[in-house]
Amino acid sequence: MPLIAPSMLSADFLKLGTEIDMINDSEADWFHLDVMDGKFVPNISYGMPIIAQMKKRAKKTFDVHLMIEQPERYLEDFKKAGADYLTVHYETGYHLHRTLTSIRALGMKAGLSINPHTPVSMVQDIIHEIDLLLVMSINPGFGGQKFLPLTFKKIREAKEMITSAGSNTLIEIDGGVTLENAAEIVAAGADVLVAGNTVFSAPDPKDMIKRLKQAGK
Ligand code: DX5
Ligand code: ZN
Repeated sequence: MPLIAPSMLSADFLKLGTEIDMINDSEADWFHLDVMDGKFVPNISYGMPIIAQMKKRAKKTFDVHLMIEQPERYLEDFKKAGADYLTVHYETGYHLHRTLTSIRALGMKAGLSINPHTPVSMVQDIIHEIDLLLVMSINPGFGGQKFLPLTFKKIREAKEMITSAGSNTLIEIDGGVTLENAAEIVAAGADVLVAGNTVFSAPDPKDMIKRLKQAGK
C-alpha cells in the first residue's frame, strides 16, 4: 500500500485549519508542502512562517519539497519550521552530497528530486545519502497538470537502482497523480504518492485519500 501525501498547494488557504484537520482525520500519511521561489520555478508559494503555523495543528509527517535556488541557505530554517523530510532539487545543486549530509545532520530525512529531463542514473553515486527520491511526473511549479508517461520508465529504473544498491530510499511521485494512474504508478515501484488536485477537488477528499491508498494494494 502506498503512502499518501496530499499536497497542501491545492488546499483552500482561507480555511487552512479545517483542511489540516481533514488530513489529520484521513488515511493520509504525510503532508506534502511545496515551497517555490519564483526563480527555480515560475511560481511563488509559501515559506517557513506558514509551515511553522501549520505544524502547530498538523499531526502527521511534514514532507517539504523545496523548489528554490540555493536551497542550502535555508536547511536550518526549515528544520525549525517543522520539516521531517526535506527535499531539494538535483538541478539546483553544485554540492548535493554536502547538502544531503547536512539535512541528515540536522535530524531530518534527506530527499532529492529530479525534474522530468534529469535521468535517474544521475543520482546513483549518492543513493546512500538519500532517504527519499522524488521523481517529478510534471514540470514543477503548478498543481493540476497532466502526468508525463515518461515517468513510468523512470520509476522502474529508480526501483532497480535502489534495490541493487541495497538502499531503503523511498520513491515518491509528484504531479498529475489520479485514481486512474495510481495503481500503475505503484506497480512500477513507487512508495509515496503526492496528490494535490485529485484530493482537494474531489467532492469527498477523505474518501479520495482512502481510494488512492487502496491503489495497487
Ligand atoms: C508542483 C508540486 C506538486 C503539486 C502537485 O510543482 O510539486 O506537489 O502540488 O499537484 P497535482 O497533484 O495537482 O499535480
Ligand atoms: Zn511537490
